[in-house]
Amino acid sequence: MHETGSLPLKAGKGVRFYSLARYALLQALQLAGVAPGSKVLLPSYVCRDLLAPVYRLRAIPVWYEIDNQLEPANPPEDWPKAEVVLAINYFGFPQDLARFRAYTARTGAVLIEDNAHGFLSRDADRNWLGSRAAFGLFSMRKTLRIPDGAALQVHDPQAQERMQPQLPFDGSGLNPAQLYKAKMRRMPILGDALLSASTALARRVRRFRTGSELPQPDPHSENELPSGADPWSGLRNALLNVDVDAEIGRRRKAYAACAALAVRAGVNPVFKELPAHCAPYGFPFRGDAAGRRIMQGFADRHGFDLVTWPDLPGAIVEHAPEHYRNVLMVNFLW
Ligand SMILES: Cc1ncc(COP(=O)(O)O)c(C=O)c1O
Repeated sequence: MHETGSLPLKAGKGVRFYSLARYALLQALQLAGVAPGSKVLLPSYVCRDLLAPVYRLRAIPVWYEIDNQLEPANPPEDWPKAEVVLAINYFGFPQDLARFRAYTARTGAVLIEDNAHGFLSRDADRNWLGSRAAFGLFSMRKTLRIPDGAALQVHDPQAQERMQPQLPFDGSGLNPAQLYKAKMRRMPILGDALLSASTALARRVRRFRTGSELPQPDPHSENELPSGADPWSGLRNALLNVDVDAEIGRRRKAYAACAALAVRAGVNPVFKELPAHCAPYGFPFRGDAAGRRIMQGFADRHGFDLVTWPDLPGAIVEHAPEHYRNVLMVNFLW
């Protein structure tokens, strides 16, 4: 339940912090009893990084499809059998867990709620996303400008007893550039301009080196976890300093501005509306080149990035339907 200003995660029993949500998933899979040959049921609309912990345990990914509203395309009776099933709150919007609960009741599978996109987001009943299943994953680094930061929340008391101890908060941060960006933004008067200029320079250098302005997907991310599971040394302080209500309010306001512009730009929001209590990761939409340019202009003016999501797994990308390939998002990371 939400108390105004409180965080969805508190250090202590049932919570462990990591650098990346991939490490939180690895521990969740271990606690759920995943072993070599176990099957893990994933949505095929997913970022390929997520496969690394599955492969690390020599488990086998099996898939359910997602429709263009980002809900399961088929009833759970049609999903393949697996020991674990993952539900994703895409872009911080609450996934309806009813079908997942029906699946776990029938098969005995363990449900993991992947809330990597939805730190600070809640469902219509005001439940924090990430707290609605046996295991919840968070990736706070996608919501806050911090070098890394992720968490696993475990509700089952028996699994809590078997959790690995909290790793030391001694990481130097997997993406230290986020700290410089946050510092730049806080500089009075010139901060935003400086950040825009340095982002533009970074894009130009990247285009020169790789031929594209956007960060290039890492082809190894599907098979390898990046080194360093220990969380960044500044993570606890950074979480204590979050003004929760202001951050939720900022995200909802940015979403409303994007939704209004989308009508004029002729682009289609992925979600019909912004549900009450939802703190969106960004504004996901589909649109033509002209509409994209208008949304890019909005992103540039507000210091946001326009990104594509996801970088699909190799097994999926070749046969992926169009609605898996054409989603763009104005990312509200500030
Ligand atoms: C839905 C989802 N879950 C989990 C992850 C993994 O998060 P992290 O990058 O913190 O490991 C991602 C990464 O993009 C994601 O999109």
